[in-house]
Amino acid sequence: MRKSVLDYILRIYLPVTLLIVVATYTVTYFVSRDERYHVGYQPTQPINYSHELHAGTVKTSDGRMGMGIDCQYCHTGVSKGRHANVPAVETCMNCHAVAATDRPEIQKLTAYYKDNKPLEWERIHKLPEHVYFNHSVHVNKGLACQECHGPIQTMAKVAQAKPFMMSNCLDCHRNAPQRYPHLVNLTGLKKGPENCAACHR
Ligand code: HEC
Ligand code: HEC
Ligand code: HEC
Ligand code: HEC
Ligand code: HEC
Repeated sequence: MRKSVLDYILRIYLPVTLLIVVATYTVTYFVSRDERYHVGYQPTQPINYSHELHAGTVKTSDGRMGMGIDCQYCHTGVSKGRHANVPAVETCMNCHAVAATDRPEIQKLTAYYKDNKPLEWERIHKLPEHVYFNHSVHVNKGLACQECHGPIQTMAKVAQAKPFMMSNCLDCHRNAPQRYPHLVNLTGLKKGPENCAACHR
């Protein structure tokens, strides 16, 4: 009698339960996965804006001089809160009301401004909804944008350069003081949290 109950559990109940768990996990994984946000993702933007030209400091691949504009001139939120924010067309018009107004892309840009139409930039980096991330805590400890985003100032068209998997966050959180010893003294950089609730709230 006892043997047949055990037998039933081992041969039928257990495999069926396992199958359901694996099937549910697989389906949820593929349904909830966003195909867009991964290394190499490089959407086409409404205006052909170049970081290489605006934020770079050396000669660009098409032979112009990089203008070296500070990242935070446009991404004003990075040191203040969660999001870096992408600039509104007004920020561009600080210069393009007069700069390069004869070029087709700038005429397109100016039309957005005159029609009061927001520029809908395609998002390139995005974490799933269940993850909490805050730019300011990282940036204010002296971590450079490039540590997470790669060499943006060399990109004529931005692509995601580094993976944003949980293992990548944790790898830096564990090793940050060894990896950035100068920042330990300079900004008081510590290890990042590894407890689940820090990033999943
Ligand atoms: C003159 C304004 C300007 C400057 C300066 C600037 N950016 Fe940007 N940035 C933009 C605009 C506009 C976009 C959206 C279009 C695009 O992706 O090219 C953007 C997009 C990005 C993105 C991708 C955002 C997303 O959707 O995931 C990152 C990352 C980024 N910038 C980082 C930087 C870094 C790092 C610097 C400094 C080296 C910098 N930016 C300098 C205007 C600027
Ligand atoms: C510790 C890693 C890290 C650093 C350092 C970092 N970023 Fe990000 N960045 C991210 C992550 C992660 C996202 C996606 C955030 C999300 O989906 O909530 C992101 C998203 C962005 C975006 C898209 C809009 C937004 O805020 O979600 C822009 C623009 C951006 N970063 C610019 C910058 C700039 C400029 C710097 C440097 C001043 C910088 N980042 C430094 C990790 C980083
Ligand atoms: C600090 C001044 C400044 C700001 C701010 C600025 N630009 Fe520019 N931009 C320039 C200058 C100057 C040029 C011309 C550079 C050259 O041709 O050598 C230029 C060139 C360009 C070009 C290339 C035009 C072409 O076809 O040759 C585009 C597109 C452009 N900017 C878009 C933008 C957008 C979009 C923004 C806002 C997110 C922006 N710019 C913000 C100064 C600026
Ligand atoms: C390049 C290194 C690095 C990467 C990559 C990184 N972090 Fe961090 N993070 C840190 C450091 C260092 C701290 C602690 C800063 C301090 O307090 O000194 C921190 C702190 C935090 C905190 C605690 C502060 C707060 O906002 O509550 C959270 C949450 C966090 N990181 C989330 C993330 C997530 C999510 C990712 C991945 C998408 C990530 N981090 C990637 C270095 C990193
Ligand atoms: C430093 C930030 C951070 C910490 C700490 C963290 N996670 Fe995550 N987690 C992430 C990020 C970012 C993602 C989304 C990217 C991915 O799927 O790897 C994620 C995704 C997940 C997922 C979904 C995986 C999938 O395939 O979609 C689960 C489940 C998860 N985390 C559980 C945990 C548990 C349990 C802990 C504690 C032991 C934990 N996390 C701690 C950042 C973190």
